[in-house]
Amino acid sequence: MRVPVVAGNWKMNGNRASIQALLESIRAGFSREWESRFLVCGSFPYLDLISRLLQDSAIAVGAQNLSEFRAGAYTGEVSGEMLADAGCRYVIIGHSERRALFGETSQQVAAKFLRAQEAGLTPILCVGETLEQRQQGLTLDTVREQLRAVADVAGVDAFRHAMLAYEPVWAIGTGLTATPEQAQEVHASLRERIAVLHPEIAARLPILYGGSVKASNAAELFASPDIDGGLIGGASLDAQEFLAICRAAG
Ligand code: 13P
Repeated sequence: MRVPVVAGNWKMNGNRASIQALLESIRAGFSREWESRFLVCGSFPYLDLISRLLQDSAIAVGAQNLSEFRAGAYTGEVSGEMLADAGCRYVIIGHSERRALFGETSQQVAAKFLRAQEAGLTPILCVGETLEQRQQGLTLDTVREQLRAVADVAGVDAFRHAMLAYEPVWAIGTGLTATPEQAQEVHASLRERIAVLHPEIAARLPILYGGSVKASNAAELFASPDIDGGLIGGASLDAQEFLAICRAAG
């Protein structure tokens, strides 16, 4: 019922030449027979280029952030409409790097979620606990609270056109991966939270796992019943690694 999703989050990496080379390699190794959803999320100045390089491919384009405002006197901000105009269909919202390093609050995350949907973009809402929270037994409380902050504002119906990504902060860029059992527990808990409000939407909602996903651990993670694919950081910058992860999902 749920189609697996593989999303690359390139973070603040790449330039015109490296992006062109990466996407050429990915397109060369990509199989049309893989029946999952694929996308890559690049930095603002390259979104238009990425869209053009991925034209007529099965790989969609996403951004990594957007403004909580619609338009106007907000120097330096980038709106959802601008992203859609640049060819984006998806946008990552509330990544832990934005929450921790740029002080993004739950209210801002909720506003961005709304702005994304208004612009016709599918938000990929990230939630995840720190190592300290996990050690204190607060994992499920933490992610459910992050989800609640958005669901309260947007309403459960908004999750018809959204994805969740569970990204334990301690697993991001560290080489430490949540075990499939650890991830499955959190994914099931998130789905259950939505199911209380709307079982059908919960059953359809893609919940991706992110945090040191690699070719070597992707298949095992994706085999869990509530893990519907991955949000891939470092490994999405390597064409062969990314392709192997796509193959594992496809
Ligand atoms: P890594 O795959 O590099 O751990 O990053 C995960 C992530 O933050 C994806 O959004």
